[in-house]
Amino acid sequence: MKALVLAGGSGTRLRPITHTRAKQLVPVANKPVLFYGLESIASAGVRDVGIVVGDTHAEIEAAVGDGSAFGLRVTYLRQEAPLGLAHAVLIARDYLGDDDFVMYLGDNFIVGGIDGLVERFRSRRPSAQILLTRVSDPSQFGVAELDGQGRVVGLEEKPRTPKSDLALAGVYLFGPEIHEAVAELKPSWRGELEITDAIQWLIESGRAVEPTLISGYWKDTGNVADMLEVNRLVLESLETRSDGDVHDSELIGRVAVEPGATVRRSRVVGPAVIGAGTLISDSYIGPFTSIAGDCRITGSEIEYSIVLARASIDGVRRIEASLIGHDVEVTPAPNTPRAHRLVLGDHSKVQISS
Ligand code: G1P
Repeated sequence: MKALVLAGGSGTRLRPITHTRAKQLVPVANKPVLFYGLESIASAGVRDVGIVVGDTHAEIEAAVGDGSAFGLRVTYLRQEAPLGLAHAVLIARDYLGDDDFVMYLGDNFIVGGIDGLVERFRSRRPSAQILLTRVSDPSQFGVAELDGQGRVVGLEEKPRTPKSDLALAGVYLFGPEIHEAVAELKPSWRGELEITDAIQWLIESGRAVEPTLISGYWKDTGNVADMLEVNRLVLESLETRSDGDVHDSELIGRVAVEPGATVRRSRVVGPAVIGAGTLISDSYIGPFTSIAGDCRITGSEIEYSIVLARASIDGVRRIEASLIGHDVEVTPAPNTPRAHRLVLGDHSKVQISS
């Protein structure tokens, strides 16, 4: 079995972070979201992984390399434009050959890994195995309709009037029959070749499509609220450690201070991670916060947030539910005039409390 990991796309819902960075590399608990998926694939015993990349290929390649750090053999497959998940299968045709494969969307997050799913596919060997999970907003996803016996009778991509609340999560297992389906597809209303339509084609041709309902945790980390939520979840099982230089400070609960970090005259209430080389001084870092490496947080308060590398926050209270990009500087405005001074990148989102 091979794996096909999708790491292209433009990440419009995570702008402006994704103007400069691949959405799959935004960190959760200081580790790129994509790495969690690659680790799950390795853990399920799959070695050969094709990663479909787009405009951000250089960055993904620099981060993942040849895959050996994950125990994987990675081949990069270039998709010239984000033309859909089934289009990614189409361009990976030669790489996949007639092997079974697990397709994993690089910005999806599945707690508990995929070992059980891969095992089940291997023993039952349907044409496709799909993962379903209940969501409150099914029209944002691919949606499955099941019959009384729990068999999939139909699938629809982003339906206006969903037939159920069962969304397709971003991990699929396929046999080579999927290539026949993909070859028959026409672009959808959004101009993409939809994997949902390919699976529907398999159903209509009488092939076995098996659903697995996951009750565990799944998130598509496409937007900031979901990123923060996944970050919270991963931090819940953080291992406490203090490899940095901590003085005149209180670390409460699960806190990981990475090597070369300094925490002084501060209070850190976990779960929280402080990245290598970061300075925290005279500050409060609250629960569910990930501060990446080489940041500077001084005289400030922040919680339930993700701060990317080299950002600095100086004299600001309080920040919460925020995603702060690389090399960003946040400082207070002068007292007079009482005004906000902003230099915001394209598609930034700011909520000001005053
Ligand atoms: C894609 C699929 C959709 C699935 C979702 C899961 O949506 O087309 O069926 O439910 O991933 O994340 P997209 O991210 O392309 O909008």
